[in-house]
Amino acid sequence: MTSKIENQTAFVTGSNRGIGRAIAEALLQRGSSKVYAAARDTDSLSDLVARYPDRVVPVPLDVTDQEQVKAAAATAQDASIVINNAGALGSGSLLEGNLAEFRREFEVNYWGPLYVARAFANSLARNGGGTFVTISSVAGLANFPVIPSYSDSKAAAHSLIAGTRFELGRNGTKVIGVYPGPVDTDMTKGMEMEKVSPASVAEHILDGIENGIEDIFPDPFALTYAAPYEAGHKMLERRTVEMLSQPA
Ligand SMILES: NC(=O)c1ccc[n+]([C@@H]2O[C@H](COP(=O)([O-])OP(=O)(O)OC[C@H]3O[C@@H](n4cnc5c(N)ncnc54)[C@H](OP(=O)(O)O)[C@@H]3O)[C@@H](O)[C@H]2O)c1
Repeated sequence: MTSKIENQTAFVTGSNRGIGRAIAEALLQRGSSKVYAAARDTDSLSDLVARYPDRVVPVPLDVTDQEQVKAAAATAQDASIVINNAGALGSGSLLEGNLAEFRREFEVNYWGPLYVARAFANSLARNGGGTFVTISSVAGLANFPVIPSYSDSKAAAHSLIAGTRFELGRNGTKVIGVYPGPVDTDMTKGMEMEKVSPASVAEHILDGIENGIEDIFPDPFALTYAAPYEAGHKMLERRTVEMLSQPA
């Protein structure tokens, strides 16, 4: 199942900076008719609104606030593409790091997308199924011990992707997981490694949406995970869903 972006309405969390901003810009460049740009501070969207006054609708949203997520979904009822991009990285040693930071990672990276899935399930179904995208990370497929609790939260997001694929899939919603490697944003500031630009990641994500790709590995580092993922996690996901789909 493919999903064109031109003339579609999209909703993006954390659209004020980093990968989320790049996705919002790329959606607009590919002809989205409307982008609901969600951000905790909508003032940080003023330049985007100034450039696309007719097509960008700023939406105040802290994804950890379920009531605000419901209100955002009520505003964006016509969205047929929903993108869970907002993410947080706190981390530190599992044994000595700040537990409040670990909880915040789970609040943003797992509970946020779950609230969004619940809030948008019905409107996506009404809009023909649509596409539901969640950004996990390669760190969600194998724990990166330098950011261990973040990796845990992204593993939870990965599992949520498979779970929502099953449940939202019943309504005809295409559920896509995104597993980036290192991207040059505020999140990776100070981390010395090769990084790709958020703009290139955004283009790969939108190519994946348009081509109906279920699991998107949007950069060269991430791509080294694709074959092992297909042979491991993906094979187990398929086998489990097949088993559950057998008639009793
Ligand atoms: N950068 C990488 O190397 C990399 C790799 C793999 C996956 N990812 C994932 O890609 C996504 C985007 O990351 P990024 O690199 O663009 O990070 P970023 O530059 O740090 O931006 C994070 C975005 O998430 C928003 N956010 C954080 N907490 C939020 C909350 N409670 N409610 C709503 N929005 C919230 C931020 O908004 P504020 O401005 O209000 O803080 C910001 O817009 C994340 O899910 C991240 O985990 C990133």
